[in-house]
Amino acid sequence: MITIREENAADVSAREALLDDVFGVERFEKTCERLRAGRLPAQGLALVAEIDGEIVGTVRLWHINAGGVRDALVLGPLAIAKAYHSMGIGGRLMRAALNRASLAGYSAVLLVGDALYYNRFGFSAALTDGLWMPGPVERERFLALELKASSLSRAFGPVKATGAWARQDAALADIQVEIAGLRDAA
Ligand SMILES: CC(C)(COP(=O)(O)OP(=O)(O)OC[C@H]1O[C@@H](n2cnc3c(N)ncnc32)[C@H](O)[C@@H]1OP(=O)(O)O)[C@@H](O)C(=O)NCCC(=O)NCCS
Repeated sequence: MITIREENAADVSAREALLDDVFGVERFEKTCERLRAGRLPAQGLALVAEIDGEIVGTVRLWHINAGGVRDALVLGPLAIAKAYHSMGIGGRLMRAALNRASLAGYSAVLLVGDALYYNRFGFSAALTDGLWMPGPVERERFLALELKASSLSRAFGPVKATGAWARQDAALADIQVEIAGLRDAA
């Protein structure tokens, strides 16, 4: 049975192994990586697909400012383990992620990927005309979906990462652990 659920800390090594297998190490050279590096994904929008305890799919969404649209997200990477392709898992992960993003009130989702695959979820290259990424992308692969009608109609300018820094979060967690320890000792 396939379960789609939020990723947790115990999933990280399986997720990274899956991404290495699907994309290879070149994945870190992608332009989208510049919007993700060192950042945390949006809360509740890092999902995995699991079958019998095995992580077989991953998708994450990240905070961005898309040409002045502040409540936008960039999606990626989306990957399904090779042995599980064409079983509908990618579609289920995408729909779950987009539903959650919509319910959380985000206005638009951007990604770089094959239009032939992402068109089915409503993504279109026409919506990114006024936007540019922080590195090279093929325009026909630079796609967007409006979760709120016309949310990208005035979007113009660079796409910038706006998510919280992962290291800051780790530092905060350390401080919280230290405070809890001091409380326990008092
Ligand atoms: C793309 C990917 C996530 C799709 O996941 P999946 O679980 O196989 O997808 P689904 O089962 O929901 O859909 C399968 C359909 O999508 C099509 N499809 C898969 N990748 C495609 C692509 N790059 N372009 C066009 N169609 C594609 C399949 O041919 C299949 O078509 P069918 O339903 O007519 O048979 C998966 O193939 C994968 O991980 N690929 C490698 C990594 C990748 O390319 N990630 C996306 C970044 S662009």
